[in-house]
Amino acid sequence: MKEQAEFGATEGGGLHRLALSDEDLRVREWFREQMNEEGLAVRIDEFGNMFGRREGTDPSADPVLVGSHLDSQPYGGIYDGALGVVAALELIRTLNDEGIETAHPIEIVNWTNEEGSRFQPAMQGSGIWAGVYDLEEEYAKTDADGVVLEDELERIGYKGTEPCEPRHDYEAYLELHIEQGPYLEQGGYDVGIVTGIVGFTWGAITFRGEADHSGPTPMHHRNDALVAAADVITGIRRIPGTLGERTVGTVGYIESQPNSINIIPGEVTFTWGVRDRDAVIVEEARERVLAEAEAAAEREGVEWEFEDRMSVDPVDFSDQCTDAINRAADALELDSLELFGGAGHDAVHMTELMDTGMVFAVSEDGKSHNESEYTSWEDCYSAAATAINAAYELTIER
Ligand code: HGY
Ligand code: MN
Ligand code: MN
Repeated sequence: MKEQAEFGATEGGGLHRLALSDEDLRVREWFREQMNEEGLAVRIDEFGNMFGRREGTDPSADPVLVGSHLDSQPYGGIYDGALGVVAALELIRTLNDEGIETAHPIEIVNWTNEEGSRFQPAMQGSGIWAGVYDLEEEYAKTDADGVVLEDELERIGYKGTEPCEPRHDYEAYLELHIEQGPYLEQGGYDVGIVTGIVGFTWGAITFRGEADHSGPTPMHHRNDALVAAADVITGIRRIPGTLGERTVGTVGYIESQPNSINIIPGEVTFTWGVRDRDAVIVEEARERVLAEAEAAAEREGVEWEFEDRMSVDPVDFSDQCTDAINRAADALELDSLELFGGAGHDAVHMTELMDTGMVFAVSEDGKSHNESEYTSWEDCYSAAATAINAAYELTIER
């Protein structure tokens, strides 16, 4: 864990390792080296997803896939995604050190751009691989500076030749991830057995008013794009409370032009996201956000437009995986809690292709997407041991 945390390390003890950045390149090279050292057959697909394969004794058996992501938020923590990739490496190292052969082959994976911070959508590499997104369309995506995704993939040398799709069936997918929420710690549990993930939708809204002098322009004579945006942003804070107990809404990014102290903002763009375990509530929340925008534009006399950035349905994980994880946690005499996850993960896109399960590690204060994200070594070990034992059980011939 400490080794990978060096690539993109921030002063605040976190990570700045955006997808396809130089920092991402350095951690990818590290991961490739680790896989080579463990004798894995390494392959890079067209979207930079990195796979390492360990053969099994039964050539006809479908592989078990284990992994997560190494990209980070702009100022994220060192555990988000990385813990799952390091645990996948530990699975291989343990089997190699102990000379254990498995019936099923094992493949470990680092998915490209899980975070969706620099380029949207989130879970992009796993989404293309699972057939949810079109490779060419995703190649053309640009970041806030207009940099084209495909150019970055080429620049860092990770636009591979392997088709970005499953080359065969898979037995199961298992992902270890930090909970990024407060429930395991609040309940005093050692590990989480994830039953499923919320659905969510992301979008961007732009208001276009009139840039004008902030002094002489009378208040009744303004078309202030930022005032319209502010109305919707407070609406996005209010709407979830009127819908579901665990409904959430967030505005994370805003850009106001010309962004000068004495000019009435002419154009404002912000991104927003809503999430809930129930797809109907997610859709209802989206409708209400857009209705708020319509009303705010009307009140302020400004134009507006919206762009859908991503929409993912809630998923349930398979009994085969959750049972294996339960047995592993029990065998380790750990206190485990079954819960659903409020963050998106690459596992979301695996559920259509294979039996899928996730293990959560305790997040201190439930904090994540923050440099102070922390999981104690003991909690990392409990969750990793659970995931590794569950993965191993899935590789045994049934
Ligand atoms: O947004 C998410 O839930 C994830 O961190 N990409
Ligand atoms: Mn993550
Ligand atoms: Mn994340």
